Amino acid sequence: MPRVIKIFDTTLRDGEQSPGASLSVDEKIAIAHQLAALNVDIIEAGFPISSPEDFEAVRRVALEVEGPAVCGLARTMPEDIDRCWEAVKDSEHPRIHTFVSTSKIHLETTLKKTAAEVLEMAAAEVAHARELCADVEFSPMDATRTDLDYLAEIVQATIEAGATTINIPDTVGYATPWEMQETIAYLFEHVANIDQCTISVHCHDDLGMSVANSLAAVKAGAGQVECTINGMGERAGNASLEEIVMALVTRGAELDATTNVRTQQIIKTSRMVSNLTGFVVQHNKAIVGENAFAHESGIHQHGVIMNRQTYEIMRPEDVGLAESVLTLGRRSGRHGLRQRLEELGYKVGDDQIDAIYERFLLIADKKKQVYDEDLQMIMHEATAQVPEVWELVSLETTSGGTPTATVTLRKEGETYTDAATGNGPVDAAYQAIERITGVSLELEDYSLRSISIGKDAVGEATVKVRHNGQETIGKAASTDIIEASARAYLNAVNRLLVKENQQ
Ligand code: KIV
Ligand code: ZN
Repeated sequence: MPRVIKIFDTTLRDGEQSPGASLSVDEKIAIAHQLAALNVDIIEAGFPISSPEDFEAVRRVALEVEGPAVCGLARTMPEDIDRCWEAVKDSEHPRIHTFVSTSKIHLETTLKKTAAEVLEMAAAEVAHARELCADVEFSPMDATRTDLDYLAEIVQATIEAGATTINIPDTVGYATPWEMQETIAYLFEHVANIDQCTISVHCHDDLGMSVANSLAAVKAGAGQVECTINGMGERAGNASLEEIVMALVTRGAELDATTNVRTQQIIKTSRMVSNLTGFVVQHNKAIVGENAFAHESGIHQHGVIMNRQTYEIMRPEDVGLAESVLTLGRRSGRHGLRQRLEELGYKVGDDQIDAIYERFLLIADKKKQVYDEDLQMIMHEATAQVPEVWELVSLETTSGGTPTATVTLRKEGETYTDAATGNGPVDAAYQAIERITGVSLELEDYSLRSISIGKDAVGEATVKVRHNGQETIGKAASTDIIEASARAYLNAVNRLLVKENQQ
C-alpha cells in the first residue's frame, strides 16, 4: 500500500501573506469550506495573535468547517500560544503550529539569542502548547540554512517536549531537491525519537523549486507537505497544492505515495481562490492554467484525437475540468438551475436560490448560452458575500467627444444620481461613483478578462485600490465590460466600508 501523504493547506495563512492579497473573514470561511470539499487533511487558517481579524477568521473556521484539522500559527511565546488555542479549540481536530528561527543569520540578526536559548524556548513552548492541545506542530524556521547538527538537536528536543509534527521549512526557497532529500534523510538517521512524529516540509518558490523540493522530501520519508492553492504565498509563493497532488497521483508509483485529496475539486478551488484574492492564474500554470490542457499544434491535436494519452499525462476531468457544455438558458427554471449547480458541486440553500436565480436571469437575458463557467462566476459572487452598501441601479456612458458617465446608485432604499467626465467611459463612471459615495479611492491596478465562452462571453473586471492606507480588491463580472468595471469599483467601495465598520 502506498503511504498517504497529509496535505496541509496554508492558503489562508502563508497564501494570504502574498503582497496585495487580503481576504475578509467571510471569504476565508468560503475558501475553508471549499478546502474541506477538496479533502485536505489540515487547514492553516491564520495567525491568531497577528490581528483581531485573523483571530476571528481562525475561530470561525475552527467552529464552522468540518472534516480537516484546523490549525493556527503562533510564535514560541506563551501569549501567542494561548491566543492560538483560544482560536482553534472549537475545531473537531485543533492544531497549534508554533515556530522559531534556527539559522545562524536569523539568531544573530532578528532574534538576538543564542542557539541554546532558542532550543530551550522552543521546547518549553511546545510543552506549553501540548498542555492545551493534543496536536502540536513545530517549525524550525529557515531550517534549510540551519546547521544540521543543531537542527537535529532542536528537532529531538521538541519531539521530546511533545511535538506531534515537525515541519522543515525552506523559508527563503534556497534549497535544491537533492539537498532537501539529504536533510530529511539526515534527520531520520540522527534524531533518535523521530518515529514519534510526522515529518513535514514547507517550501517556498524563490528559485522555482518548491514542488521539486517537497517531492524530494516525500521521497526521503516526509509524511506531510505544506502547500497553497495556485502556489500563493510570501514573495514567489509556496509549493502549489495542485502540482504536488497531481504529481503524487500521476507519479505516485515512483514515490510509493498518495494523498486523500479529491482531485476533481481542484479547478473549482483554484478559481475560487483566484477570484476572491484577485490573483489571476498565469495561462501556462501547471494543472490549473487556462492552457494546461489545451493543444494548439496540429500534430498534437491529431495525436490527441487518435489517443489522448499521446500528449496528455493527466485527464482534464480528474482535476474537475468539465468540458464546457451548454446547460441552461433564459427559459430555465429554478429547479434546473439548482440541479446543474449541484452537479457542479455547489450546495444551494433555499434562502439563497432566489438571489442566485435573479443573477442567473440577468446573464441569461444577455447571453444566448449559459455555460458552467458562467454559473461558477455567479456562485463565486454569491460566496464573496460582500454586503451591498451601495448598489448599482443604472449606468449610461458616452465615449464620443468627452467621455461621460451617468450613474445611479442605491443606498438604504434611497437612489442617488450624478454624472462625471473622464479620460474614458470607465474613468468617467469611477468619477461619478466617487461623487455619489464620497469615497475617494487610489486605483492601483485594473484588469479585465473573459471568463466564459462565446462572442457574448462574460468579462470579469478586477480593481486593486487603496484608501486611508488600506488596500483592497473589487471584482465583478458582466457581459458589458464597462458595467463590470463599475461594479468592480463599487464592490471595492463596499468592501472598504464593511472593513471600516468592522474595525
Ligand atoms: O516559510 C516559513 O518558514 C513559514 C513558517 C512559519 C513555517 O511560513
Ligand atoms: Zn512560509
